[in-house]
Parts: sequence; C-alpha cells; structure tokens
Amino acid sequence: MKIAVIGTGYVGLVTGTCFAETGNDVTCVDIDKDKVEKLSSGQITIYEPGLEKIFVRNEKEDRLHFTTSLEEGIKNAKIIFLALPTPPDGDGKADLQYVLGVAKDIGCLLKKDDYKIIIDKSTVPVGTADKVRTAILESAKHSGAGDLEGSFDVVSNPEFLREGVAVDDFMKPNRVVIGTESERAKKLLGELYAPFVRQGNPIIYMDEKSAELTKYAANSFLAAKISFMNEIAQLCEKLGADVDMVRKGIGSDERIGRRFLFPGIGYGGSCFPKDVQALAGSAREINYEFKILEAVMKVNENQKLHLVSKINAWFGNDLKGKKFALWGLAFKPNTDDIREAPALSIIEELLAAGASVTAFDPEAMSNVKRELGKKINYADNQYDALTDADALIIATEWSEFRTPDFIKMTSLLKNKLIFDGRNLFDLKQMEEYGFHYESIGRRVVN
Ligand SMILES: NC(=O)c1ccc[n+]([C@@H]2O[C@H](COP(=O)([O-])OP(=O)(O)OC[C@H]3O[C@@H](n4cnc5c(N)ncnc54)[C@H](O)[C@@H]3O)[C@@H](O)[C@H]2O)c1
Repeated sequence: MKIAVIGTGYVGLVTGTCFAETGNDVTCVDIDKDKVEKLSSGQITIYEPGLEKIFVRNEKEDRLHFTTSLEEGIKNAKIIFLALPTPPDGDGKADLQYVLGVAKDIGCLLKKDDYKIIIDKSTVPVGTADKVRTAILESAKHSGAGDLEGSFDVVSNPEFLREGVAVDDFMKPNRVVIGTESERAKKLLGELYAPFVRQGNPIIYMDEKSAELTKYAANSFLAAKISFMNEIAQLCEKLGADVDMVRKGIGSDERIGRRFLFPGIGYGGSCFPKDVQALAGSAREINYEFKILEAVMKVNENQKLHLVSKINAWFGNDLKGKKFALWGLAFKPNTDDIREAPALSIIEELLAAGASVTAFDPEAMSNVKRELGKKINYADNQYDALTDADALIIATEWSEFRTPDFIKMTSLLKNKLIFDGRNLFDLKQMEEYGFHYESIGRRVVN
C-alpha cells in the first residue's frame, strides 16, 4: 500500500519505518529541512533501539522516502497518517494548530475521485476527527476543489508505542485501536495492520470519539498508577515501611499487576505530563472536575523535587559551591528524549541553589547540550562524572548504572554519598560498601 506519514518525529519515523518493513511504500513528510536531509541521506535522527537497522534496510530497498513537500508526499498515498505534535496550549489543553494546519493544507490537495484515508495518529482530544474533517472540507471548497464529501475518511488511530521499545511496540502492538464508522476505511486499515497482529492481539474497532478518549484514558491511568506508588513511597518513608516490599506484595495480585508500580522522581516525557493535563483540561472545559487527575498532577510535581529535598536536608539547606554528579538525563532509559525529564527539574533546582552539576547519559547528552549549553558540565562516561563530586544523584535507570564498580566510585567521589531517584541499588550492598544512600520509599542507609 502507498502510505504518507506527516511529521517524522518519534512516532512518525517509527510508524513510517515499520510500515515500510511490512512491504508498504512509505513517504514521510516533515517541515524540518535538516531532518529531511539527514533522513534522506540515511542518517537516523532519533535514538530508538532497533530502529536504525530497519530504517537503513527499507531506505536502501526504496520503500522509505522523505520529503518536505506535502503535495509530493500524499500524491499517490491511499492512507495519510498525521503524526504531528499536540503540545499543551496555555491552559494545558492540546494545541491542535499543527494537526488542523496540515488538515487544511491536505484539503487543498485532495481530489474528488481519489479516495484517501486521513488518520489522526497524534494524541488528540475527543472531537478532533470532526475538526479535521471540517478543516479538510472547508479548505477544499475555498481552494476550488468543490465538495469532497465522500472522497475521504478521517479515522482516529491513536498510537500506544513507548519510546525505548517503540519498534517492538509498533511491530507487535498489544492492540490496535481504530476509530471509524466507515466500512471502507475499516477494510483497508484491517489489511494494513494484519501483519502486525498475526499473534492474535486484537484490532479493536470503535467510534472516533471513543478511540480518541481511549488514548488519554490509557496514559492517564498509567500516570495515576505512578503517582499512587509515589504517595505510597512517601508513606513508607514516614512510617518505616519498604516500598519494594509493598510493591511486590500488591503486584502479585493479578487485579493490580506488577508493572508501573515503581516509585521514583515522577513521570516525565513528551506524553504523560501533557496527556494528563489535556484530559483534565478537556474535562474542565465541559464543567467536569476530574479530581483524580488533578491529584495525579500535583503529586507528580512534588515528587520531581522530592530527591532535591533529601539532598537539601543532608547539606543543611546550603548547596552553594557543592558539586554533584548526575547519572541519567533522559526521561527514561533507552531513549535520547529529554522532554519534561525529571533530571532537568533537579538540575534547575541545584543550579538555582548555587551548586554545579556534571552529568552523564548514554544517549541524551547532545539534546541536553542544545538546551542547557554550558550551564552544566558533561562527562565522557559515568565514572568521569564522579571525580571530586560531593554526591552522586541518579535520575534515569539506564541498565549500565545498575551494577557499577562501587570500589571505583568510592575512590572518585569526594563523599560516599548517593541520592538515588530510581532505587537501583540493594540496601545491604550499599551498607557493605559504606555508602550513605538515600532512595525513594526505603530506609536511609547511613
Ligand atoms: N513520543 C511518544 O512516545 C508518543 C507515543 C504515542 C503518541 N504520541 C503522540 O504522537 C504525536 C507526535 O509525537 P512525537 O513525539 O512523534 O512528536 P515529535 O515532536 O517528535 O515529532 C513531530 C514532528 O512533526 C513535525 N512537524 C511539525 N509541523 C509539521 C508540519 N506542518 N508538517 C510536517 N511536519 C511537521 C516536526 O518537525 C517533528 O519532526 C503527539 O501527539 C504525541 O502525543 C507520542
């Protein structure tokens, strides 16, 4: 099938590459000229495990193309995916300017007898498919293409991939949600997605609005799980319980499940913070107060700085001149994405208090350099960051941080002091190596 993907970021590039991998002819469109130039010359623009290999193969085999021209991109495409940004607007609601802007442009390019499906893959509020349809119809009328009613369908097909395992998630999704009442669209999309659900995971067809809400409900529920565990961790610290034990104790209940029960320094990334905000904002707009979500956001904001409170308490609220090593900048492991990364909030607080930071992250350093420049120092590896540091702070649970050389760490750090926002280390082990070790929801090793 001939496919266009508009927006070639984390979702668009994975979507385009994975559809090419199953034999489709894919053209990805982006307004960012540099990005398109790089991608066209075989250079991948994001770090995502497993992506580069299939990206290179499909480009070589001429199934994956890149352009800045929307017209060229959609000319022969039967299916057009919109994988465009939907950042929060001033009120926290999803800003639809990119999605509706492209919908308008598409309206000027569609033709009466050339049926196409336009798919919202971006995370968008309930009612967006209607807005996209209207934007296309109106701009078609204004551009002289006439009434295009019946010449296209707009479908909601939210994306559930997780950065860090995006290729696996896309190739073997737990489910594919398709929101449309159009039988023609259902048939074509069923064929397109068939190779991805061969193991029996479902394609769930529903109406557009339910599909749009499903995505927000999924992310908000997961964010709620994280905030809930962060509150349990706070209680553990105050009551002398161990959150790891509580986590194991509740996670073995099938109704609860083992996943997403890890406390930490708050959820970040480009999705959870904005999607929770957007759903709460949409609810407010219709005079419904989504009380749980308001609390989820509040808890998360507090949790992001919980580790800094511990650091402040240890240093008597005087961080001036202190030097901190920071392991991890990405909002989670296996990605270079730093959008809304808790590490950045921690850095901001430390710098404001007069401390300095030397950071290391396996993949996210160049993105942080672009944002923070010389405000912090960047180490070549995790150990170099430790030289003469007053303490180590851990903000991302990269695998390579899990079993470090503790003896070497001891010799490099000025103090044997670790503040771990991801509970990477065993408490007994910390005792044996003689560290003062503070983590989340567990006793302090002193
Ligand atoms: N990142 C994730 O893990 C994830 C997962 C599921 C869903 N989503 C949703 O998918 C959508 C895209 O997210 P993302 O992380 O891929 O964003 P992104 O910022 O990485 O990528 C968006 C791309 O769109 C391009 N773009 C902007 N305006 C354009 C235009 N007019 N024409 C063509 N290209 C244009 C940008 O240059 C950029 O390359 C969002 O709605 C997001 O909530 C993201």
